[in-house]
Amino acid sequence: MDYLKAQSVDSLKGTINISGAKNASLPLIAMTILAKNSVNIKNLPHVADIRTLLKLLTNLGAKVDFLDEKVVVDTKPLHETKATYDIVKTMRASILVLGPILARFGHCEVSLPGGCAIGQRPIDLHLKALEQMGAQIEIKAGYIEARAPKGLQGCNIIFDKITVTGTANIVMAAALANGKTTITNAAREPEVVQLCEVLNESGVTIDGIGTAVLTVHGTAGELINIPEFSIIPDRIEAGTYLCAGAITKSKITLTNVEPKHLGAVLAKLEEMGSSFTLTEDSITIHPAKKIKPVKIITQEYPAFPTDMQAQFMALATQADGVSIIEERLFENRFMHVSELQRMGADITLNAHTATVNGKTKLSGTDVMATDLRASSALVLAALVANGETNIHRIYHLDRGYDALEKKLGGVGADIQRLSE
Ligand code: EPZ
Repeated sequence: MDYLKAQSVDSLKGTINISGAKNASLPLIAMTILAKNSVNIKNLPHVADIRTLLKLLTNLGAKVDFLDEKVVVDTKPLHETKATYDIVKTMRASILVLGPILARFGHCEVSLPGGCAIGQRPIDLHLKALEQMGAQIEIKAGYIEARAPKGLQGCNIIFDKITVTGTANIVMAAALANGKTTITNAAREPEVVQLCEVLNESGVTIDGIGTAVLTVHGTAGELINIPEFSIIPDRIEAGTYLCAGAITKSKITLTNVEPKHLGAVLAKLEEMGSSFTLTEDSITIHPAKKIKPVKIITQEYPAFPTDMQAQFMALATQADGVSIIEERLFENRFMHVSELQRMGADITLNAHTATVNGKTKLSGTDVMATDLRASSALVLAALVANGETNIHRIYHLDRGYDALEKKLGGVGADIQRLSE
């Protein structure tokens, strides 16, 4: 199993190129199930979750070609409608094939994804919405069996909670439905916006894109022609590297990034003392000399993203004063706390709120990654810890970061990938 050996670094310098967004890529790959043509996808990130979903599609019969500048997905030969446990258990976002397969074939079996380190991750809202659209759904032996022999019917759906993949699943199901589907309390994340924009360009009229009320005009079962598209930049990867600049007090520039997707993250870094130079597709961080403490509450976009919570906790250990971080989306997204404490961080937990007393001297040691974003938080801590830090189980990191150690190495970090 791989691990990262990271040394502390005085400062970083230079430019980091941001990859395509994992969480935009996953629904957009699932969307190809709705296509009558071969779909060209540019700027897919080279991360494990993307490979997993593409493998799932090939298991179902689709053809996937990896070319230099793009990936071509042809789902015309797709014939299998069962997404099995062996692959779904490795990535719960596989649930994103449920809506498209059901919409296209009228039946579908998808293994229940199961929970993950950060929480139980229910999909009740996905299933309830599909039932409202006329699907018969049964849970049998760990599988979701869904049927809609007469196709899905457009209707008015109100999500009890804002759900990112739930919104994506229902938008894709509604794309081929009979009639109009209105989704109220829809997720407004940029990744959902791109899915809607590409569907719109593919002949599925969607009103309200970027708002909490989406109206999808279905094609009544007609497959769609999806033009070539390029994945939007990964705002969480970008936020992670901005935290690397902030925690090491280094001026670095990110390229191929979308500053407007990072409003809440930039605002919180400014509160902590950083400033920024922005262009249309780049961000340069001018870090604080003294990092100020911060209060963070994670909420749905455009508020502060839960996927940046762990990284900011690592940064808060270097702030002069007490930071308060409240996690409102997931019930168990503080697994990085105990590992940061082992490095010397002074953090106390009370239910969903962490109190971080800074500034603490961190010491390098052996630590264990527990989930994707916790892994990157440990890398950030290692950059400023005394001595060497070995981060184990970095398969978590590889699910969502494209060559992190190489990108940080390119701006002066000393991080080696080794095998144990
Ligand atoms: C997406 O997960 C992201 N994953 C997550 O990123 C991200 O943390 C999360 O959205 C929140 O922004 C992908 O896009 C692949 P949710 P998702 O459905 O869609 C509850 C990362 O690090 N809920 O928006 O699974 C749920 O329990 C990953 O890249 C229900 O109760 O999250 C949670 O409290 C981690 N019932 C809240 O809604 C449902 O049917 C938000 O979950 C669905 C969700």
